[in-house]
Amino acid sequence: MPNLRSIIQDTHRALEVVGIPDARLESEVMVMDVMRMPRQSIFAEQETEVSAQQQEQLATIIQRRLTREPLAYILNHREFYGVNLLVNSDVLIPRPETETMVEHALFMALMGMESRELIIADVGTGSGAIAINLAIHLPAAHIYAIDAFDPTLDVAAYNIRMHNVTDRVTLLKGDLLEPLPQPVDVVVANLPYLPTARIPTLQPEVQWEPVAALDGGPDGLEHIRRLLQQASDSERLKPHGVILLEMDPEQMSDAQTAANQAFPDAEVSMEPDLSGRDRVLVVNLGGTSPDY
Ligand SMILES: C[S@@+](CC[C@H](N)C(=O)[O-])C[C@H]1O[C@@H](n2cnc3c(N)ncnc32)[C@H](O)[C@@H]1O
Repeated sequence: MPNLRSIIQDTHRALEVVGIPDARLESEVMVMDVMRMPRQSIFAEQETEVSAQQQEQLATIIQRRLTREPLAYILNHREFYGVNLLVNSDVLIPRPETETMVEHALFMALMGMESRELIIADVGTGSGAIAINLAIHLPAAHIYAIDAFDPTLDVAAYNIRMHNVTDRVTLLKGDLLEPLPQPVDVVVANLPYLPTARIPTLQPEVQWEPVAALDGGPDGLEHIRRLLQQASDSERLKPHGVILLEMDPEQMSDAQTAANQAFPDAEVSMEPDLSGRDRVLVVNLGGTSPDY
């Protein structure tokens, strides 16, 4: 029977030959999954034999991956900000750059924390990645997690239950801020922001993700502009509220213009992601100090 070392090497080669990015890392993740072993063990126990059944399971995973189906969909999970989430083709696979928005929302919430309950809306919640992390790290907050699609909300509901935050995360179905039953202190939104024409040019894995989670209209800012408009036309944001919007760094300037038009008195700033590129637009209705 082959051992772990040779199985990892063979898997790595099979993925690399068809140009799958991060082939070594993915081969290790596949082997960890099939062997039900943590990362440190697959390195420490390289002589462990791999049974015929385990080899068969691995072959099925590799076969699917060679069609460029994302590994997260094949294994049905993805880690985001230290939290393991169920994912399938009804939800976007949470991206590392979105952790910037979670971090900034937490920073602002903790800076302005008072004894009263903070009300947050996560608009376009997908798998629930952002809402669940905010609920875990902000025990006094209540979060409305909104999405427009039932199958997406089913996945979010499962993840919310798995992480025991059902009492503080309320799922709502509808268009952007429309279903909110009360004004909120903070809006966080990772809405679809890809320009429509760019989607077919992206890597094959992206084509497996729901188009409604990707497509932001001709310049990618359709949903973001509508959200800003909804927020300024309605009473859905408190007077000193804050809106955090994830987008592509190239869209920042146009989005900033839209934010200034919707909220002429707000302080509008940008937060960089881990690679130092502006990723989150912050619209602070109460000015520079987070006093919400
Ligand atoms: C880019 S995904 C983000 C998912 C998740 N928040 C994350 O960061 O991983 C955008 C989400 O917005 C949802 N969405 C698209 N249009 C919407 C709308 N008009 N109202 C509410 N949600 C919408 C999509 O279904 C999708 O789940």
